[in-house]
Amino acid sequence: MTSFNRQSKIAFLGAGKVGGSLALALANAGYPVIAVASRTQASANEFAERISGCEAYQGYQEAADLADVAFVTTSDDYISPVAASVTWSQGQAVVHCSGAASLDLFDGPKAQGAIPGAFHPLQAFSSVENGVKSIPGTTFGIEAGDDIRPYLERMAHDIGANPVLLRAEDKVLYHLSGVLMGNLLTCLVGIAGGVWEHIGYTRADGVKALLPMMRAVANNIEASGIPGAVAGPYPRGDIGTINKHLEALRDRDPSLLPLYCELALAGLPQAVERGLNENTGEEIRRNIEKFRER
Ligand SMILES: NC(=O)c1ccc[n+]([C@@H]2O[C@H](COP(=O)([O-])OP(=O)(O)OC[C@H]3O[C@@H](n4cnc5c(N)ncnc54)[C@H](OP(=O)(O)O)[C@@H]3O)[C@@H](O)[C@H]2O)c1
Repeated sequence: MTSFNRQSKIAFLGAGKVGGSLALALANAGYPVIAVASRTQASANEFAERISGCEAYQGYQEAADLADVAFVTTSDDYISPVAASVTWSQGQAVVHCSGAASLDLFDGPKAQGAIPGAFHPLQAFSSVENGVKSIPGTTFGIEAGDDIRPYLERMAHDIGANPVLLRAEDKVLYHLSGVLMGNLLTCLVGIAGGVWEHIGYTRADGVKALLPMMRAVANNIEASGIPGAVAGPYPRGDIGTINKHLEALRDRDPSLLPLYCELALAGLPQAVERGLNENTGEEIRRNIEKFRER
């Protein structure tokens, strides 16, 4: 069996936000990140400048040839073409960081004897500077065979992250949970902030006003979990307040009514878990459904 360890030489093919952040975190943890190549030489040079001992190469093949483990960190659509453009050696590892994609992106390299893996940070990366700071505590979804899984698990621990093992068939749902939390939660922040446009302020004012609440909610969830952190009129059973919300949306922003109703209905079981009386919960559900059907 091929064995990978902390001395295994690492290359990155694709010098973007995730590649740059992960490479820096690995280098800081003592892993030898020795080569990078990217679509543009400028990205590869910038990547290499951040990491002592790392050289930028013009071609993917030159960088891959120097590595025991190559991370292909291009945007998702180019992982497979970039990997297919390289001739792989027997026992060399090739790893991507996509959350929804499985190992079949590397069927070509595998046919040449390479060992495929996936190492996905369940985190939002907006820059290398912020990305590297966000890695400690981040969960990394790992899909890999026995020959490389222990190495990737160890790697996650060494950069302060939490590894979870994933089956190929579960990856899309796993990724979707991250999109609900990152992408769609951001949409919800925009929508909640947008409500302020009805009360004489801008969306930016609303987002600014709501952000401390978002931070407190995240802290409460960390401290108390779900349903412990569930708060507000739903677990309290404040039917009058909830009815006022529904009427206000019907009268002043009906386009938001379906989303509010669906979220409220989806959250009712959590409110019941938190202690909402089941009969009151049922009454709330009936009221919401009346508004939803309009
Ligand atoms: N961003 C996130 O929040 C996040 C989170 C988890 C996982 N991921 C995963 O991480 C991987 C990289 O994402 P990222 O956010 O780091 O992307 P990114 O910052 O946009 O970087 C993508 C890299 O792909 C290269 N690239 C773009 N088009 C290409 C093409 N046509 N051919 C070859 N290379 C091309 C670019 O190279 P040049 O710079 O040289 O042009 C760029 O460095 C993806 O698999 C993504 O799903 C991202």
